[in-house]
Amino acid sequence: MFPAERPRRLRRTPALRRLVAETNLAPHDFVAPLFVAEGLSEPSPILSLPGHFLHTVSSLCDEVRALQRAGVGGVILFGVPTTKDEVGSGAWSRDGVAQVALRALRDEFDDDLVLMADLCLDEYTSHGHCGVVRPDGTVDNDATIELYGRVAVAQAGAGASVVAPSGMMDGQVGAIRAALDGAGFDETIILAYAAKYASGLYGPFRDAVGVEIADGGNRRGYQQDSRNRREALREARADVAQGADIVMVKPAMSYLDVVSDLRRELDVPLCAYHVSGEYAMVKAAAQNGWIDGTAVAIEQLTAVRRAGADFVLTYFAREIAEELGR
Ligand code: PBG
Repeated sequence: MFPAERPRRLRRTPALRRLVAETNLAPHDFVAPLFVAEGLSEPSPILSLPGHFLHTVSSLCDEVRALQRAGVGGVILFGVPTTKDEVGSGAWSRDGVAQVALRALRDEFDDDLVLMADLCLDEYTSHGHCGVVRPDGTVDNDATIELYGRVAVAQAGAGASVVAPSGMMDGQVGAIRAALDGAGFDETIILAYAAKYASGLYGPFRDAVGVEIADGGNRRGYQQDSRNRREALREARADVAQGADIVMVKPAMSYLDVVSDLRRELDVPLCAYHVSGEYAMVKAAAQNGWIDGTAVAIEQLTAVRRAGADFVLTYFAREIAEELGR
């Protein structure tokens, strides 16, 4: 009887395939990135992220209600201020747009879904860098992490359960943990963007938040080099040693080797960020009728889980959660 191996037996029916599936995808595996903008009277569509909006506080709450109905696990909030300055002080001011929105979300949703806040300065700085810029144009690491501590305390005070530092400064997790503990926020979770690569896939996001890096600059001086794999482990281990509760790999699809490495080497929860450019590519091809967007989205999100991520930050959160619930 040749061949002896007959794997196709297990693929014959949907019920069999479901029974032996190694990876599952559920709505609670998704965290939805959301944008709240200051000074809007109504939500404004983000053209490069079809289906997404710059929200008012009120439309943000409507969206989170829909996400909650769909069973999504959490949301991560990005603030888009009307004014910026050299140090990004809007990121930690009590009346900063993210803090105002977090208080509204905390009031309505409490702990029904996990409220996360992206912790960075770039949306709030006039030069678009993720930190304090020295006269020579380089980013001052230690001055920056001091400010990150202030942002963390402001976000935790406004109701974030999780703060997610995305600036890739050395020592940022330790500085944030110390600031949070010092202010009595010892229950606040740190989700570290541990292995965040300098990527061409952040374009639609930067459009959405109106960030343009001054003088044609880039983030290669602080985000990781896409040629490096081992370095991700070094970054992630450092973050865990400094107190990170969860670590992230970003972007997702081009870095599944990194997801797989971190899953094997670390025992903290692990997530990956399926970023704006990854979403936009699928949407654009689907709009042209070149691919089945829903099928590709499910395939990609499953791949991120298969590589070892416990959950995925994705602009597909609502759409695919609703699809899975059908
Ligand atoms: C920085 C930040 C960025 C993203 C999340 N946090 C942009 C950057 O590093 O330039 C990108 C997310 C995406 O593309 O979906 N605050």
